[in-house]
Amino acid sequence: MSRNYYMAGNWKMHMTRSEAALLAQELVNKLKDGKHKYLVAPSFTLLETVSAIVEGTNIRLGAQNCACEEQGAHTGEVSVLQLKDLGVQTIILGHSERRHLYKEDDALINKKVKLALKHGFEVILCIGELLEEREAGKVEEVCERQTVKGLEGVSAGDLANIVIAYEPVWAIGTGKTATPDDAEAVHAFVRKVIKRLYGEEAAAKIIIQYGGSVKPDNAAQLMAKENIDGALVGGASLKTDTFVPIAKFS
Ligand code: PGA
Repeated sequence: MSRNYYMAGNWKMHMTRSEAALLAQELVNKLKDGKHKYLVAPSFTLLETVSAIVEGTNIRLGAQNCACEEQGAHTGEVSVLQLKDLGVQTIILGHSERRHLYKEDDALINKKVKLALKHGFEVILCIGELLEEREAGKVEEVCERQTVKGLEGVSAGDLANIVIAYEPVWAIGTGKTATPDDAEAVHAFVRKVIKRLYGEEAAAKIIIQYGGSVKPDNAAQLMAKENIDGALVGGASLKTDTFVPIAKFS
């Protein structure tokens, strides 16, 4: 299988500019010989600072969200045009914190996905079930719905710019990781959904990251699974001591 691993850090709502600059510079130094694909996604206010540091390196710049409209009267929102202007290459959409804390639904997320693709961004589309959905046996139903609706109207050509991140909500920031086997089962299922929608070749190519309490001591076991192609890391991405070993897992 020729998929490259894609290791991403979601910094969430952490850090000030000086802290972010320090972390970004350390990551540039420590990952420059790394073999995988890398990304950091800082808060909007940190993007300009981090952009200047990661530009021209092997670390991509990501944003954690974007508005669903290009521009206009949308107080408090940030547009894809503004993100592009700062050198952002990738946008994380549909993160569970956006879905559950800020009530973003599949239709809104889909609108953002299409807008981001239209402007040439790579999109990391996050999916994943709540604990009660897992306990009710609805993992596949939820992940299928979020994948199908998130990608509605996305062409086969544009799928090349989509990465999916499977993040079981109960595993995010809780220290509870899905077992490699449980995660693998969902990843294989999602790949089957992509195959049904876009065909075998597209399904074989698409990168599916796992997220949810990825740490230096569980990264390698997760990455060893056939359908797990990388990680979207929250808490452990805030320090080089924890992110670098994940990013360079072996
Ligand atoms: P976590 O977050 O690694 O802190 O669990 C992952 C995420 O929300 O992307």
